[in-house]
Amino acid sequence: MDPILISETDRIFVLTGAGVSAESGLPTFRASDGLWEGHRIEDVCTPEALARNPALVWEFYSMRRAAAKEAQPNPAHLALAALERRMGDRFFLCTQNVDDLHERAGSQRLLHMHGELAKSRCEENCGRPPVPDFAVYRTLNEVPRCVCGALLRPHIVFFGEVPLGLDLIQEKIGNSTIMLVVGTSGSVYPAANFVHWAHIAGARTIYIGPERPLNAAAFTTIVEGAAGQVLPELLTSS
Ligand code: APR
Repeated sequence: MDPILISETDRIFVLTGAGVSAESGLPTFRASDGLWEGHRIEDVCTPEALARNPALVWEFYSMRRAAAKEAQPNPAHLALAALERRMGDRFFLCTQNVDDLHERAGSQRLLHMHGELAKSRCEENCGRPPVPDFAVYRTLNEVPRCVCGALLRPHIVFFGEVPLGLDLIQEKIGNSTIMLVVGTSGSVYPAANFVHWAHIAGARTIYIGPERPLNAAAFTTIVEGAAGQVLPELLTSS
């Protein structure tokens, strides 16, 4: 497998999805058939679910926090962090994942467009910024309150909510010459559209994952394989 050619003037935008953390033991959304303990994940990860049954929402995210704490970055996370050290400001990483494995691997120029498991924020959107919170709560009574008195909620972009940092994402894609997409099924928007934005910017577009994503036709190159196995080889600097 030939390494991806990256010149001194290239600027890369990387988009990762659940597949990049699969080899760290965190199940992808698809691998679980979109179900968690009999609930459709879309029924647990919505503003309506939070209003109707906050205990259930917190149970789900406490379970995910516990799993993320146990997981370790895999060779795919490490290869992306190494690429960033080589490229500096010519590198940007946008992840749909809410785990912290990219930052634990050393990534710094990183945006969590769907939020972060390791933070909570005010349920009433009182305007206070998210606070660090990786705690696992057994009951709703344990969940802390915001300074304003409302309950805290996980700092997660639920289905139906607007992803974070879209202006920055648009700017970074517009300035990039390469888009590298890793381990995402291409089924959730707007992320599934980024490859089209990259085409408009004239970038090469490369997908890496064990199966073709739904938006496969939009990519210049598809490399079929597990990210932890193929990324270190594809991103060697020789
Ligand atoms: N390496 C690379 N890709 C992998 C690997 C692996 N080892 N294992 C699985 N994959 C791929 C699958 O082939 C699939 O295409 O990862 C993808 C996972 O797809 P999804 O589970 O749909 O995850 P993702 O695309 O990240 O979901 C997007 O949907 O659940 C919501 O907000 C949540 O951010 C998430 C969004």
